[in-house]
Amino acid sequence: MTDSRIVSSVRSDDEAPYEAGLRPNTLDSYIGQDRLRENLKVSIEAARKRKEAMDHVLLYGPPGLGKTTLAYVIGNELGVPVRATAGPVLEKPGDLAAILTNLKQHEVLFIDEIHRMSPVIEEILYPAMEDYELDIMIGEGPGAHSVKVPLQKFTLIGATTRAGLLTSPLRARFGIVHRLDFYTEIDMLEIVNRSASILKVPVHGSAAEEIAKRSRGTPRVVNRLLRRVRDYAEVRADGTISVSVANDALELLEVDEHGFDEADRRLLRAIIEKFGGGPVGLNSLSAAIAEEKDAIEDIYEPFLIQIGFLDRTPRGRVATARAYEYLGLDAPKKDSKLW
Ligand code: ADE
Repeated sequence: MTDSRIVSSVRSDDEAPYEAGLRPNTLDSYIGQDRLRENLKVSIEAARKRKEAMDHVLLYGPPGLGKTTLAYVIGNELGVPVRATAGPVLEKPGDLAAILTNLKQHEVLFIDEIHRMSPVIEEILYPAMEDYELDIMIGEGPGAHSVKVPLQKFTLIGATTRAGLLTSPLRARFGIVHRLDFYTEIDMLEIVNRSASILKVPVHGSAAEEIAKRSRGTPRVVNRLLRRVRDYAEVRADGTISVSVANDALELLEVDEHGFDEADRRLLRAIIEKFGGGPVGLNSLSAAIAEEKDAIEDIYEPFLIQIGFLDRTPRGRVATARAYEYLGLDAPKKDSKLW
């Protein structure tokens, strides 16, 4: 991915360097998310056959699972450039209008964090998505009138960690909606091996398994850990990632056997030790561990919930028996009303 393809100066994807060179650019080299891949193959081929713009696509799911990667894969498979921007970057209606009027036929516009667009920007997007048209207000007061500007037929790909925060009119305008799930351990292992071969770093099978296991089902994490373990192998060993090199490097990084780091442990410990195991509300939890609410909801919680260490109840977050066990603490009796 080159900067020239990025419409706005700011990208939300601050871990892009970990993925540089490692992102697949075709659906066939994309590992995992099999159903999503099959569905996209059909949509892409149909659009190509009909020589039409593909329907608008909404991708949602936790960070690091490949939403941005997929947007570029889709562009590549359609044979068109991808113009990228992000919800928080679009401040004025003119920002989006300029991007839309510059889109050429069938091109892809990728909007990351699409749930963070302001309502005025969203209003511009509706007619653009539905009728490929901009509704621009000219003038102010009684003399104000709207002018319709035609746009080229394009494909919008929106990505969000929170589909629930999208307004329903916006969500309704996406014809293709897919959720990305955490990757299986088998997929993660394939990704480690693929990345290691691109980086030309020798890795033993059991070491690759170890790195895959500790990467929270998240390709961005696995690629970051692989780069750190490679550093360790080059500096403290002979450059080969053996299982002992991987274990030592991951221990130095404080990434444990579940892939938890210090922040995950702090969160679980706070729920148990400061709030009696929960339920605890997001505001209290955020204050207790000095982490942003968004980071808790978007980054830490989804994985902790997925692997059964945390439960979200209507009254707040609750630590499960597995979380107690993990921290070496006695869980409250099962017959308590919280279990
Ligand atoms: N690198 C990051 N995500 C990937 C994926 N899903 N498949 C292959 N390589 C990747």
